[in-house]
Amino acid sequence: MTKYLITSALPYINGIKHLGNLAGSLLPADVHARYRRQTGAEVLYICATDEHGTPAELAAADAGVGISDYCARQHVLQAGTYRGFDLSFDHFGRSSGPRNHALTQHFFACLERNGFVEERELKQVYSAADGRFLPDRYVIGTCPHCGSDRARGDQCEACARQLDPTDLIAPRSAVSGSTDLEVRGTRHLFLRQTALEGSLRDWLASRRDWPPLVVSIANKWLDEGIRDRCITRDLSWGVPVPKLGYQGKVFYVWFDAPIEYIAATQEWADVDPESRDWRSWWLEADDVRYLQFLGKDNVPFHAVSFPCTLLGSGERWKSVDVIKGLNWLTYEGGKFSTSASRGVFLDQALDLLPADRWRWWLTANAPEGSDTDFTFARFAADVDHDLADTFGNFVQRVLSFVVSRYDGVVPEGPLDADLPARLAPLLDQLRERHEALALRGTADAVRAVWRFANAYLVERAPWTLLKTNPAAAAGAIRTAVGLIGVCAQAAWPIMPGAAAKALAAIGEDADLPAFPTEHIAIPAGRRIAHPGLLFAKLGAAWAEAQSRRFAGTV
Ligand code: MF3
Ligand code: ZN
Repeated sequence: MTKYLITSALPYINGIKHLGNLAGSLLPADVHARYRRQTGAEVLYICATDEHGTPAELAAADAGVGISDYCARQHVLQAGTYRGFDLSFDHFGRSSGPRNHALTQHFFACLERNGFVEERELKQVYSAADGRFLPDRYVIGTCPHCGSDRARGDQCEACARQLDPTDLIAPRSAVSGSTDLEVRGTRHLFLRQTALEGSLRDWLASRRDWPPLVVSIANKWLDEGIRDRCITRDLSWGVPVPKLGYQGKVFYVWFDAPIEYIAATQEWADVDPESRDWRSWWLEADDVRYLQFLGKDNVPFHAVSFPCTLLGSGERWKSVDVIKGLNWLTYEGGKFSTSASRGVFLDQALDLLPADRWRWWLTANAPEGSDTDFTFARFAADVDHDLADTFGNFVQRVLSFVVSRYDGVVPEGPLDADLPARLAPLLDQLRERHEALALRGTADAVRAVWRFANAYLVERAPWTLLKTNPAAAAGAIRTAVGLIGVCAQAAWPIMPGAAAKALAAIGEDADLPAFPTEHIAIPAGRRIAHPGLLFAKLGAAWAEAQSRRFAGTV
């Protein structure tokens, strides 16, 4: 039997993430993991915080706390928001943990032993006041092309030109503002990706199921010429480089971060070593299908760099079978911006509404073929229509009828005989969409099931039938209670909260609902528990108020 290993891109530690991060990797991975669990498959869904790198260091300095305390605190905050969104990680790890340190150093040792590591001397800007080398983007100064005085050492944002730090006029440190800068030589290690090009091309050719967006990004990288990659940095926060002469240097964050997918699986196994075996997921794991979910900017690292690490190790590590790459979510016509507090961050989203409406909308409008623009107006109109008027309305009408006419007990009556044949194609379609990792398509298929259920109710009209043929009315309503189960099971991967409520109301398994089947038989005599209104409408006035509130400071 195939086992499914699922990972979503590891969110950076610095700060609570926004709806775009949720839509672009975490949520799609969760929907797929839940679908696989529904079908009875063995699933491992792994995520972690990506904790190294200069932005994290600077955020800690801004917050006035030590970097390791900062990361520990932020990790707990992020974990809380992901719980709030019902993300069903089997483990949520930390890339700064001891497992990742050891494993990153192990991969380095393999790569070096196999001749894929080379030492080179680089020139870099050193700041005496800060006591450190500055990454290019932390040197700022005047742009020699356009005169902007906020140009960065890697690029000028005003005129978009690529720069070197030495191009800048009157350079200063972005960390301290100090102008006491000098260019110094410093030794670094490069991963010889050029030497791995052959193995990489063979490996890419063997990945037959990759979607076109991902294949074209990977090929573009190869065709433009693969380059050797500097995998070390002059920083103190990170995984130390275990090599003579490299004290005070660490691995580049993009070298150690993907290794955390494996290290987090080790952390998962450490919790219960008797019953959990990380090796069975990662080493010689031919029965494992590995799916990665990530934003398009992350594709090169997962389709080229990380595979180079794995291939170059010479060991039999599991590599990715399918990459689902997503586009961007934009916010009311522009970018999400942390610095300008523009857009909705995950903690704010949960303060506004519980997870399900967000999860539904971001799946039904997933940035798959192109970018998606989130606006409160569309959000409110869509979720009111789909969740209040369609799904919620069906549950409401059926259960209210059972309460008012049958005393809250599912009545005895024959199930509709031709219903399974009508339902089966809708469920086949749902399964196909999940298998294709089509998020919008999956939501469309779920909506089709809900519409079918509503149409069934109108067609049978048990409230009228009750007067002429009570037995048929009872059969129709018993069938409709079964359809609540189907609607909720179909919805569960996307909206686990409301689906569980509806399933609990009719006495069905709400913890891990099975994938729906067309054979629905709720036993007559079962007492239902009306869950109350599942979705109140939000309305246009609510949407306008929110869109004013989150417009940001610029
Ligand atoms: N932190 C990165 C981002 O948000 C993603 C890292 S994915 C990993 O873009 F695999 F490298 F960890
Ligand atoms: Zn410029």
